[in-house]
Amino acid sequence: MTITVIGAGYVGLVTASLFAELGNKVYCIDIDKARIANLKKGIVPFYEPSLAEYISRSIKEKRLFFTDSYSQSVPKSQIVFICVGTPPKNNGEADLTYLFSAVEEAAKNLKGYTLITIKSTIPIGFEHDLEAIVKKYAKSKYEFASSPEFLREGTAISDSLHPDRIVIGTNSKKAEKMLLELHAPLPGERIICDTRSAQLIKYASNSFLATKISFANALAAICEKTGADVAKVVQGVGADKRIGHSYLYPGVGYGGSCLPKDVLAFIAQTRNFDYDFELLRAVDAINNAQVSSLVNKIRKSLGITDKTGKNLEGVEVAILGLAFKPNTDDMRDAPSVKIINVLVDLGANITAYDPKSNEVAKKILPNIKYANDLYKAINEKDLMVIVTEWPQFAEIDLEKAKKLLKKPIIVDGRNILDPKKARDLGFSYTGIGR
Ligand code: NAD
Ligand code: UGA
Repeated sequence: MTITVIGAGYVGLVTASLFAELGNKVYCIDIDKARIANLKKGIVPFYEPSLAEYISRSIKEKRLFFTDSYSQSVPKSQIVFICVGTPPKNNGEADLTYLFSAVEEAAKNLKGYTLITIKSTIPIGFEHDLEAIVKKYAKSKYEFASSPEFLREGTAISDSLHPDRIVIGTNSKKAEKMLLELHAPLPGERIICDTRSAQLIKYASNSFLATKISFANALAAICEKTGADVAKVVQGVGADKRIGHSYLYPGVGYGGSCLPKDVLAFIAQTRNFDYDFELLRAVDAINNAQVSSLVNKIRKSLGITDKTGKNLEGVEVAILGLAFKPNTDDMRDAPSVKIINVLVDLGANITAYDPKSNEVAKKILPNIKYANDLYKAINEKDLMVIVTEWPQFAEIDLEKAKKLLKKPIIVDGRNILDPKKARDLGFSYTGIGR
């Protein structure tokens, strides 16, 4: 098949390289001309394991083409995938400006029957608005489908090659057949449904994952009050196959461009459908509380009882990890940003290190210092705070760390170190819920 993918971000680039890898001819469009110029040379705008190799291979084998021109690609395509961003507005609702403009441009360039498939996460019920836009401009036959994406950053390629499910939301038999055929080489359960159910599956999935994480963070808070060990508690809870171990790890809260945004958007949408999603409001509140909880732990581990004014004035803090999770340089809605901003407001001096996102972070947090390795970051600092669970932080040489730090204090926001080992070496160790 010939396909156009609109939006060369995380979802668009992974979708384009996946379908090119499966033998289709794929055009990938973005309005960002510099991004397209780089992609033509195989330069990927962010760090995602294996993605650059997949893209370069498909460019070389002439299966994948990058362009900023809708007219060069859309008329040749049987399927157009919309993969543009749907970021949050101030009130939590999804901002659909990019979506509407991408759909309008696609509609103006349709030629012959085209299936417009929405991969972006869009609120329930917006198919009518999209339909109205396309109807206004289209000169040929088209149909719609909603096929939400479930990849995770950091493992995007393997997630898309081994999906748990492929959701095809459409009321057209022809569209269903085309999408089943396109996805035929991939494993995973096929969920065939209407567009609204497809959109709901996406919001419900991300919200459920967020709910599990907030549940684990609530358990951690209870463990701190009762003296139980949350690592053991979630191990025991997750061993029940009906519950499972995944997304039960407490920490500094869920971040990234999707879980926080989609929880808020789901709350906002359901409110518009006259349902107060109290459960999700609590999930969001617990997540927000993780930041102040971590800052309190930092204060407590330094023996600072004053909770007013600039009570961390002059304290040298090493922050380990800036990305919202390991194996990405993505800083969108990263807990590190909120934590660092609070610490800076309280007067602390920050030196941060992340294996991949120092450069991205410099644009967001220009007023802190950056180190280019873990040990340089902790050298002569009052304490070290682990914010992202990069594997190399779990392997830190604690004896070396003790010599470099001014005070042997660790606040482990991801529970990646062994508390006993750290304490036996003379560290003051504070984790989450243990
Ligand atoms: P992104 O911000 O990384 O990329 C979006 C791209 O679309 C940008 O490069 C932008 O320049 C481009 N764009 C905007 N308007 C355009 C237009 N009119 N024409 C062509 N290009 C245009 O976004 P993303 O993270 O890939 O997310 C895209 C959608 O997929 C969102 O709805 C998101 O919620 C959803 N999603 C994201 C992930 C993820 O892990 N990032 C996973 C599943 C679903
Ligand atoms: C998430 C979903 O997992 C994907 O299925 C979905 O496609 C995507 O959002 C999306 O819609 O964009 P992603 O944002 O890449 O993927 O990251 P996750 O691996 O889900 O992690 C999200 C956040 O939760 C991270 O900050 C992570 O550190 C945190 N987390 C995760 C925990 O705090 N505890 C856990 O047990 C698991």
